[in-house]
Amino acid sequence: MKLFLYYLIIIFMITTFAAYGQKNNNRADVHSFGNSDEITIKHLTLDLSVNFGTKILSGSAVLTLDHKKKTNKIVVDTRDLSIEKVTLDEKETPTSFALGEEVKFLGKALTVAITQKTKSVKIYYSTSPNAGALQWLEPSQTSGKEKPFLFTQSEAILARTWVPCMDGPGVRMTYSATIHTRPDLVAVMSASGNAGTKTADGIYSFEMKQPIPSYLLALAVGDLQFRSLGNRSGVYAEPSMIEKSANEFVDIEKMISAAEELYGPYRWERYDLLVLPPSFPFGGMENPRLTFATPTILAGDRSLVALVAHELAHSWSGNLVTNATWNDFWLNEGFTVYFEHRIMEKVYGRNYSEMLSVLTLKDLKEEIQSIGATSNDTKLKLDLINRDPDDGMTNIAYNKGYFFLRLCEETFGREQWDVFLNKYFDENAFTTMTTEIFLDKLNTHFKIKENSSLTNKLNIAAWVYGPGLPENYPKPQSIEFEKVTAQVNVFLDGTQASKLNTQDWTTHHWLYFLRNLPDTVRLEKVIELDYAFNFTRSGNSEILCEWFQRCIKVNYETAFGPMRNYLMNVGRRKLIKPLYTELAKTPAGKTWAQEVYAKARPGYHSVTYNTIDGILK
Ligand code: BES
Ligand code: ZN
Repeated sequence: MKLFLYYLIIIFMITTFAAYGQKNNNRADVHSFGNSDEITIKHLTLDLSVNFGTKILSGSAVLTLDHKKKTNKIVVDTRDLSIEKVTLDEKETPTSFALGEEVKFLGKALTVAITQKTKSVKIYYSTSPNAGALQWLEPSQTSGKEKPFLFTQSEAILARTWVPCMDGPGVRMTYSATIHTRPDLVAVMSASGNAGTKTADGIYSFEMKQPIPSYLLALAVGDLQFRSLGNRSGVYAEPSMIEKSANEFVDIEKMISAAEELYGPYRWERYDLLVLPPSFPFGGMENPRLTFATPTILAGDRSLVALVAHELAHSWSGNLVTNATWNDFWLNEGFTVYFEHRIMEKVYGRNYSEMLSVLTLKDLKEEIQSIGATSNDTKLKLDLINRDPDDGMTNIAYNKGYFFLRLCEETFGREQWDVFLNKYFDENAFTTMTTEIFLDKLNTHFKIKENSSLTNKLNIAAWVYGPGLPENYPKPQSIEFEKVTAQVNVFLDGTQASKLNTQDWTTHHWLYFLRNLPDTVRLEKVIELDYAFNFTRSGNSEILCEWFQRCIKVNYETAFGPMRNYLMNVGRRKLIKPLYTELAKTPAGKTWAQEVYAKARPGYHSVTYNTIDGILK
């Protein structure tokens, strides 16, 4: 036995040295150290204790292996993890391991010596208090103000900050987990086993039977309650938020049915939502079986639920058919925005979904202008080598992706296009997809290359591999927004704000109105608008974000108090980044922003403060 171990260590040292010399650049996924061409992980078993005092998760991860080629090592991703020991198989035979050098964004490769017969590797480890995926909230940062809260955000490459794993979207595994926490808190995960009631011992067990990529691993722990919304759906939230949440999401079953009618059966059994405290850095995160959502979606009038349609759509585009690498991100997000709009059309009608599409087009044009129309980052197929994927994953994947897929719909006809998409989700369920394989399938199905008029009409190369917005983009049309444009013009011609015809306007009418006011609108007119419509006191976070940008432009002082309050509470990056950006344009604005940010930053998740640091430095 001793001899065997000795042999293992020698072989291991030789191969690890070889691994150190090898650059990551020729791997299919440039953001993972994993040797997934040789060996992969088919199942993960987590056993973790949650310590709110030290802000540490500690315990073990068992990786069940799937050997592809002869190899005597497995390389997994870690970042800011302390590895205590590593053992092999059920017998827990000790083995040697080594952590590589720290690489920016990527962390450290963990190389473990195994044999060709090794079935599983058990890693004993703990996380660091500043793990990128984790946010540990003080009671004061929650709605109830009495109990702490923890949540994870693993996408894109942050799973490795709380679980040692092959942290690339190309590797899928099933998982089971046991979580130990305080008995006065509830743990929930992106898996089955969620109950929403406290256990006497604070121990919770979970199981995810469908294989998922690591970026969909998710955990939250807090004072949570559950409310059913239908046969296979419900919502988790803090007790003081549960009523409001359940009311906002009443249409969820309708959305699930609409999605199934469009693109085939929902394959994850249940669809639940978790409403997080306001520091959650995204609008939503499509963790399987349990979408994580920002409380800023709770407008009270259900006007922001397109976000739920979006996360639900990911149950097909993304979670079922997954982008192979982050360079193919548009396959996740572009498809999802397209699918989201189809769900919205089916549930709320074409007038509504066309309003969303017009806003999407405006976003896209502004995004291209701000990134630069010739920038590589405006291509659908990205090149994120040697970069933090978070920097290159912009709205382009979402909105340019949407318009490309809508162009496909308009070119092939909706009926034929839906036949193709149904087949696409069905045949590729639980696998990964590259841009190239997708284009190949598209070409084959519609015989595009054999048809020069189709080829020219679509101009796929310009959409996928070219920058900017190709000229043949679809032009959404909204009668509702034509009415809004008329009111914008009347207002600019001098009509009093209070005399505008805004009857029956919804959130989206207002968003379109605010976004179409030119920069030349002066302070008096902004004050007049506020008197007439009370924007500064709006309870709708999207409207506030738009309005505050306007207030900064004209230095409308009355709004700065409420804006400070907003920046201190909301941690959703998309809703605060535009404000810090606008403030940073003038020296006085920047000083004010830095002062607020100094107080707000400790309350933000790493995803958010990494972005804002860049704006205010
Ligand atoms: N999967 C994304 C969130 C994400 C993207 C996290 C990239 C980390 C890296 C999620 O589905 C999403 O797109 N959220 C949007 C929702 C919106 C488009 C309706 C958001 O958070 O704003
Ligand atoms: Zn998304």
